[in-house]
Amino acid sequence: MESLFANIMKEFEGYAIGKMLGYLNDPNVISFAGGLPSSDVFPLDIVKKATEKSLKEDWTHVLQYSPIPGERDLMEAVIDYLKEDDIHIEPENIMITTSGQHGLDLVGRLFLNPQDAIVIDLPTFGGALAAFELEDTQYVARDIEEDGTDVNGMKAGIEDYIDKKGKKPKFIYVIPDFQNPSGITTSLEKRLALLELGKKFEIPVVEDSPYRELRYRGEHLPSIYSLDKNQGHVIGLYTFSKILCPGIRVGFNIGPPEVVKKFAFIKGANILNTPKLNQNICRTFLQEYDLDTHFQKTRKYYSEKLNFFLKAMEENFPEDMGVKWTKPEGGLFLWITVPEEINTLDLFHMAIEEKVAFVPGEVFYPEGFKRYNSMRINFSFPTKKEIVEGVRRLSSVIKKYRAKKKT
Ligand SMILES: Cc1ncc(COP(=O)(O)O)c(C=O)c1O
Repeated sequence: MESLFANIMKEFEGYAIGKMLGYLNDPNVISFAGGLPSSDVFPLDIVKKATEKSLKEDWTHVLQYSPIPGERDLMEAVIDYLKEDDIHIEPENIMITTSGQHGLDLVGRLFLNPQDAIVIDLPTFGGALAAFELEDTQYVARDIEEDGTDVNGMKAGIEDYIDKKGKKPKFIYVIPDFQNPSGITTSLEKRLALLELGKKFEIPVVEDSPYRELRYRGEHLPSIYSLDKNQGHVIGLYTFSKILCPGIRVGFNIGPPEVVKKFAFIKGANILNTPKLNQNICRTFLQEYDLDTHFQKTRKYYSEKLNFFLKAMEENFPEDMGVKWTKPEGGLFLWITVPEEINTLDLFHMAIEEKVAFVPGEVFYPEGFKRYNSMRINFSFPTKKEIVEGVRRLSSVIKKYRAKKKT
């Protein structure tokens, strides 16, 4: 049978984290690996209320097919919600997706021919790499810096790519707010520069924003989409996964009408429609829930966990261990870099024995760009007690790894 598979499927192994999570069935493992928001902040009350109301009053529609681009009333609720973030769009600029991952898939399918290139930060979200790799993608890639995307480096990379290949990369993919996996935020100056870069080469900036509401400190920065003032140079990707809950699987892509129209054609051919019940829940959440209180509570909850994690890192990683970590202003992740002699995939297998887990950094780099001495940490899901013990185990396993290497 395998000889019949499409060429791209011969090598394709999906989202690498999935394989890692397979090792984590042991309940005694303290996991910093998943990307999970905490169920402690899921607004169960509004989900229940919206579900009951939908099934009572709207069941004939809820159980029916629904429009491919999404329910009009959810689109309108999203349009109002985005106004708060200085984004002013019309229904023709928005398409409801079946979550952020679906939004990424639509972008890949719309723009990429086999062997087309895209421009990315290193590291970047592994799920995005998986979605784009389905289209047999090449990369122009630059290391992310402390204040975000290396825009000058990207510019040089694009010029070089055009010189060599005689064609442009198709888009620039970034996560400016509390990037997954690094936790880094791109500065305002660099957001403006990214927009200019896209305009200069006439390629869109794809701005993925799942964590935007989750800022715990520092100044709220405008999205690249809002800086563009809806002029069509940016495609925005959003999801309800991290602001409501991931089980709902609803998100939305925004962008120029010609792009949104094509997204709908693609959606019609793959997912068809997003369940109306879930869209009703999202609409009710946006329109009837006290969002300010919800987000304040969520931010307080995660920010305490982050501070706790950072304190545990200070306590367990003295400077002479040569371990460095980012100090995010929001989001769900931080990024640890260990001395180069440590391969974090090997370390991962040792760590599992010691009952602690993380994601080896290499899954956030495409083939050809891999680095092996970093790891992604999720601080939002483990309890405070688990954080204290997990960081202690992590420090101990790194010491053991180094001692073993020396012998
Ligand atoms: C940057 C980024 N984009 C997209 C997604 C996918 O979101 P969803 O869970 O809504 O599919 C995630 C999820 O972790 C993410 O971190």
